[in-house]
Amino acid sequence: MKLSIRPDNLVVDIEKGGSLLEGVRSAGINLASSCGGKGTCGKCKVELVTGNLETKASMKKLGANEVLSCQSFFTDGDVTINIPNDGRRLSGHKVLINEISLPNPFGLEPLFRRVVLRLPEPSLDNNIDDLSRLLVELKREIGIEDIYFSLEMMQKLPRVLREGNWTVTVGLALLSCTEGGCGINGCRTEIIELEPGEVQGAYYGLAVDIGTTTVKVNLVDLTTGETVASGGEYNLQQRYGDDVINRIVYSTDEKDGLNRLQQAALTSINNLVQKMLSEQKIKEEHIYTCVVAGNTTMVHLFLGIPANNIRLEPYIPAASLPYPVKSRYLGLAMNPNGFIYTLPAVGSYVGGDITSGVLATRLSSKERISLLIDIGTNGEMVLGNSDWQISCACSAGPCFEGGGIKYGMRAMDGAIDKVDIGPDYEITVNTINDKKPQGICGSGLIDIMSTFLKEEIIGRTGKFDKNIKNTRLRLGEEGWEFVLVWGKDTEHGNDIVILETDIDNVIRAKGAIFGAIRVLMKNVGMTFDNVSEILIAGGFGNSLNIKDAITIGMLPDVPLEKYRYVGNTSLKGAQMSLTSVRAFEEVKEMSKGMTYLDLSIGNDFMEEFVSALFLPHTDFTLFKSVAVN
Ligand code: FES
Repeated sequence: MKLSIRPDNLVVDIEKGGSLLEGVRSAGINLASSCGGKGTCGKCKVELVTGNLETKASMKKLGANEVLSCQSFFTDGDVTINIPNDGRRLSGHKVLINEISLPNPFGLEPLFRRVVLRLPEPSLDNNIDDLSRLLVELKREIGIEDIYFSLEMMQKLPRVLREGNWTVTVGLALLSCTEGGCGINGCRTEIIELEPGEVQGAYYGLAVDIGTTTVKVNLVDLTTGETVASGGEYNLQQRYGDDVINRIVYSTDEKDGLNRLQQAALTSINNLVQKMLSEQKIKEEHIYTCVVAGNTTMVHLFLGIPANNIRLEPYIPAASLPYPVKSRYLGLAMNPNGFIYTLPAVGSYVGGDITSGVLATRLSSKERISLLIDIGTNGEMVLGNSDWQISCACSAGPCFEGGGIKYGMRAMDGAIDKVDIGPDYEITVNTINDKKPQGICGSGLIDIMSTFLKEEIIGRTGKFDKNIKNTRLRLGEEGWEFVLVWGKDTEHGNDIVILETDIDNVIRAKGAIFGAIRVLMKNVGMTFDNVSEILIAGGFGNSLNIKDAITIGMLPDVPLEKYRYVGNTSLKGAQMSLTSVRAFEEVKEMSKGMTYLDLSIGNDFMEEFVSALFLPHTDFTLFKSVAVN
């Protein structure tokens, strides 16, 4: 049996009983599937053109001929479907890479380096064994004697020394500190490469940020510390759920679930690496090391470590700082002997992406107090300075990434990121890359909410002013909605609307973020006046309009000069650690001292969250610069 997919004209083989979602994936199309295939998000819907499918009862309203692909299964005969080229396809995402540069005070002292040794030739008077001869010279050259030497290297050693006429190039991994080994989680030096003679040329490392939504990779020349290529794509794990909880559930409840999630993360990274390598004409085996930053769940799943206890009280990860692992055990596209390191987590929901961010922004080395906020599917934040740091995380939900919003989509071509309202509710929209509108991205949602509030289209509870007499405001099948773009002007021909329930979702997300910030401040007995700078990190990048975010009560009402965009600090911190053992030591030390505030304990967060479910807030005094009607 065959599945034909329009408008791509793809045809793949299918089997009776297989799901349509898997069939679509086997054709290389990644459909959004926020709920992980439970039939609740509606993101995986496609149009059935011909053929028969066995479909389970749908919890979502579907149009004529529409089916949820996760709930539809092949029976007999060929099937043809149509998948409109809109936000439901996970492709063309604009991944921001190193868009903002931050100063790097660390010198070049990478986690892998090559050393050329010229050994004295053995003789009857100098007849110590080959290994001792090498180690003596290594100690003399770089001062390290606590070195691990594997059997694999031992088996190569006699040949390599003689082939190179007693000159040998040694590849050293995990020079944790120049003094040789700090003893933290497997910290030691290991010889992972031996080659005869003096080997010239560059060698490389990978800095990786595994986000819940996207994966970003920098390929770094370890001889210069320079980035030679960058890439970003969707995290293929999204097919198993949008957020970390859905993915943990999948990894636990589904047969082979953990392995599937691990392979999805590895494939996401490998696809990027292999593309970069072929463009740069670099061999895979010349990548000798990799540093990965990610939230606690992402790191567990990437390493294939069961993550189920992260979501069960008392919310304990298997490891905050897993030991470095040789690439051969994971199958990353790099030298199989090279080590993969992960950055340390502080708690189940404050992971290596945040400690990496603290490293990259130097928050923990400044006297003045900074607040770092990383906004993604989770809102994670750290407050502190060189003496102390306190962190917490809240679930913002997927709305800023397009989930839970009728026309929500990622920041990709055709996403509305700004609106202007003229007389008689005439609306002009701005879209990414000026493409025909397809949906609304996260920064667009914040802009729309702020504009609607100022124009009094919505009130402080986020409800539409039903006194507005205009065809744009109407009662649709899913409740009250406001038309942003009429179907004749959109990519897919449907009116792009924002629902009252969409606005509710954004209010809950912004309420969680602001509530978490308030709890953090209260815990240290401080006000925003005590904070010198607020650093905004995460996928929003500088597309987030801070003024709009203040207007809706998502970010604190402090002078705009206090805000600074810092971009993807998770990736930047990973790269700093890759190119500097001292940076890596610093982030490990810093994470041990950081306080983790669990917002699920006590009522503080719930009270703050509920107070923040208004626009901008129930307490006007917190948003004095926002004119409230
Ligand atoms: Fe199919 Fe969510 S409804 S993946």
